[in-house]
Order: sequence, then structure tokens, then C-alpha cells
Amino acid sequence: MFVFKAAVVGAGTMGGEIAQVVASAGIPVVLKDVKQEFVDTGLTKAREVTQGQLGALVAKEKITQEDADRQLEEILGRITGTLDYDGFGDVDFVIEAVPERMEIKQSVFADLDAVTPGHAILASNTSGLSITEIADATRRPDQIVGFHFFWPASVMRLIEVIEGDETAPDTVQAATTFAQQIRKMPIRAAECPGFVVNRILVSTASEIWRYQDETGVPVEEIDEFIKERAQMPMGPFRVADMSGLDTVVKVARDMRDAYGDRFYVHRGMEQLVERGELGAKTGKGFYEHR
Ligand SMILES: NC(=O)c1ccc[n+]([C@@H]2O[C@H](COP(=O)([O-])OP(=O)(O)OC[C@H]3O[C@@H](n4cnc5c(N)ncnc54)[C@H](O)[C@@H]3O)[C@@H](O)[C@H]2O)c1
Repeated sequence: MFVFKAAVVGAGTMGGEIAQVVASAGIPVVLKDVKQEFVDTGLTKAREVTQGQLGALVAKEKITQEDADRQLEEILGRITGTLDYDGFGDVDFVIEAVPERMEIKQSVFADLDAVTPGHAILASNTSGLSITEIADATRRPDQIVGFHFFWPASVMRLIEVIEGDETAPDTVQAATTFAQQIRKMPIRAAECPGFVVNRILVSTASEIWRYQDETGVPVEEIDEFIKERAQMPMGPFRVADMSGLDTVVKVARDMRDAYGDRFYVHRGMEQLVERGELGAKTGKGFYEHR
């Protein structure tokens, strides 16, 4: 199946950039959220990311500033922000990127089942929830699939494609092809909490979080140490801030519930979430963000 039009539900940390990725590949995309300010945040993110990518090409003299200005408007012109489902009647592929809670996902999938054409594939960007359970909210469980991007979606190439119990082989094939159409690298992952990458990533982070809670070593010091020694672009506490601490805590708790104590939930992070300090998206977490 070729995707002529797509939609993204949820314009938060992931949704805005996912819409940007789709639009950059030449595909029109509707971006839906529940409040105009959230839609605007997603659109602003898409603009910033596109400007950054095109600016880099201009700096390398691959394209002229005139080309960049034209391409910017073309790419952004393919993204339509919305608060309702009006633009969903002719979409081929939907990516849901709402908060990591089963009841919200199921409610969105029930809506999507009602408003999208019968052939449309409905995909979830869930970090680890059951695709089978999400699909239970629809009458098309064979067309429901996990489609897991990584932060930042405009940069990270990997997408995990996850089959639920009833996902049809055609759906997996279409999702894999769509991932390639938007210039990403799909891998198939079995349906289990955390899939492949988060089981590795959260397991590694767990040891660092446990160490920080037990010793009280400042998070800035740990981040700096890991950045220098492991030559990573960011330390784990800054990455958590950028990803959204509510999402990180939820994923960490889900992993601990599924696999036991080898996964750990950072106590300091839980306290920040209780105070509503969720990282970059609220302006404050472990760090201050502009
Ligand atoms: N943040 C990450 O690093 C990351 C990485 C990979 C996958 N994910 C997954 O992506 C999903 C979204 O995460 P996020 O970090 O972007 O969350 P977020 O909280 O930053 O954004 C979620 C957005 O969904 C909107 N929303 C809530 N209910 C909605 C509804 N009914 N209809 C439309 N929009 C609605 C919210 O207003 C918000 O803007 C989660 O399942 C998460 O596990 C997150």
C-alpha cells in the first residue's frame, strides 16, 4: 500500500517531529491535538527542525538560501494542524503519539476506527504498551501495528514495527514500506514490554539512576562524565529531560512491573513529575530549559 496522506495524533514531544519527518518525505499530514496551543507547539517544532536541516544544507553549499526558503514553505505547507477529525476521512496511515496510558490510547483508537477509511492502517508510537490491547478498542485489529520512533524523531533513523496478536502480515509489510518511504530504518520487534530498544536502554539507564539515588552524586556530574567517557551527545538525565520525565517514569515503571527489580525507577525523577516539572516540555526538570 502506498501512503498518499497520513495523520499524527498528539503534537507533543514526539508528534510534531513525526509530522515533520512525514512532510519532509513529500507526504501531506494532518497533525491533531486537543488544544490549539499544543498544535502550535508541534507546528513550531516542525518549523525549527526543518529550518535546522535546511540551514545545514545551505552551510555546506548543497543548496542555496533561496532553495531552502522554498523547501521550508513546501514542507510546512504539507502539515495541517487541527483540533478535530475532519481531515481524517481520506488518510491511509495514522500514527498515534498521545501519552503512554492504555485508556487514552484505546479511546483515541476507537475514535480513529470510526473516522478513518476502512483501508487505513492505525499505528501506535507506544514505547512498550501491548499492541493487542490497543487493537481491542477497534473493529480492525488486523490493521493495528506498533510503529515506534525514537527521540528526536527527526534525527533517529530506527523504527520498531510491532505486531499484535491479530496484526495481518499485509499491515506489517505496509508499515515497513511506509517507514522506508519516510526514510527510516524499520526493524520487526516482538510484542513484549519495552520491545527491543527500551529493554536495553532503560536497563542501562536503571543502573545509572540507581547509582545516583544511592550516592547523591549530582546529575550534572554524571551526565558530564558519561558524555565525555562514552562520547554520547547527551548524558542520561538530560536525555530524560528532553524526552519528558512523565513519559520516562511511566515507561520505567511499566518495565519494572513487567520484569522486576532489574529495572529501576529514579526517585528524584518521580518527585519532579509529582511537582509537574516534566523537563523540556514544561521548562524545568533536572535542568532549566528556555
Ligand atoms: N518522549 C519520548 O522520548 C518518546 C520516544 C518514543 C516514543 N514515545 C511515545 O510516544 C507517545 C507520545 O509521547 P510524547 O513524549 O510525545 O508525549 P507528550 O506528553 O509530549 O505529548 C502527548 C500529546 O498528546 C496530546 N493528547 C492527549 N490526548 C489526546 C487526544 N485524545 N487526541 C489528541 N492529542 C492528545 C497531548 O495534549 C500532548 O500534546 C507515548 O506513547 C510515548 O511513550 C515517546
